[in-house]
Amino acid sequence: MSLDAFIAELDSLSAAAQKAFDSAADSAALEAARVEFVGAKSGKLKDAQKGLGTVGKDDKPAAGKKFNEIKTAIEAALAAAQIRLAAGSATAGGAAAGGPPFDPSQPGVRPRLGHLHPLTQTIEELKDIMGRLGFTVAHGPEIEDERHNFEALNIPKAHPARDPLENFYLAVAEKSAASGPLLLRSQTSTVQIRVMESQPPPVRIISLGRVYRPDAADATHYPMFHQIEGLLIDRHVTMADLKSTLRMFARSYFGGDVHIRFRPSFFPFTEPSVEVDMQWNDRWIEMGGAGMVDPNVLRAVGYEPEEVTGFAFGLGVERVCARRHQVTDIREFYKNDVRFLEQF
Ligand code: DAH
Repeated sequence: MSLDAFIAELDSLSAAAQKAFDSAADSAALEAARVEFVGAKSGKLKDAQKGLGTVGKDDKPAAGKKFNEIKTAIEAALAAAQIRLAAGSATAGGAAAGGPPFDPSQPGVRPRLGHLHPLTQTIEELKDIMGRLGFTVAHGPEIEDERHNFEALNIPKAHPARDPLENFYLAVAEKSAASGPLLLRSQTSTVQIRVMESQPPPVRIISLGRVYRPDAADATHYPMFHQIEGLLIDRHVTMADLKSTLRMFARSYFGGDVHIRFRPSFFPFTEPSVEVDMQWNDRWIEMGGAGMVDPNVLRAVGYEPEEVTGFAFGLGVERVCARRHQVTDIREFYKNDVRFLEQF
């Protein structure tokens, strides 16, 4: 046999073996193909090997080399077909679908889980703490009218807080004659009015949510931020109740050794009014405002100031969260940078 004829025979044998192994649909078919091509006694490869003795002496080395290559290729094709069928029986995907074979001994891929945003965590915790003190959660709209954002809160027309440049008034507002101009609420104190309008005393609520002011963003300001508002109305409520409530609140959230202090201040909807500071590592940080609900506010919602009194407070959620976690720039809360968020 000539060398060329021998090589041609081996090539067609290799192609036939490859085709038979690839098309084997199950292990029985593959075993039949294996016996046919590489069977030790009468396999076609064995037959072809006999041809090796018939090529000329000078062509022997080349023929032997070719035979070894073809033998290796056929064995590799058989091994690949065996893996394909094993993977196919373990999973519907795997090699049959073109992916790597399924290896049940490999550990699984753990999906990456997220968690609640630090501000949401803070809000949930504050609700929890105040819930234990008997405060239920009330909600109010983020788009408000001037009555709820200002008037019923005893904020007169000329007050600087009502300056259009200090608020996000909505353009559509001019057309809604019934309610007057509308704006994005600048404080959660609006919810005090909405709750008192809708129920008689006693009242014991907190409200947490977004408020909006056209402030330039810096380390302590953002045009949108969150407040926690508290309101308690009942008979014989005093400033001592306010202070002990806020002290318990601060100690529950920050830890047992936090102190609070009141500084005299002014808010139109409370009289007297105070700024609330909390102590942290020997530093006093302003957390918000508070006071005894002004009789004008009680009158505005139809309550009788001679019968009931109450206290109110409003604190910044970003502020308490930032203080607790030592975040120095509140803009971090809104960047959605996972490297920052995953630390909480
Ligand atoms: N609404 C005030 C603000 O945004 C905070 C505040 C002060 C709320 C005193 C109160 C309060 O309920 O009594 O600056």
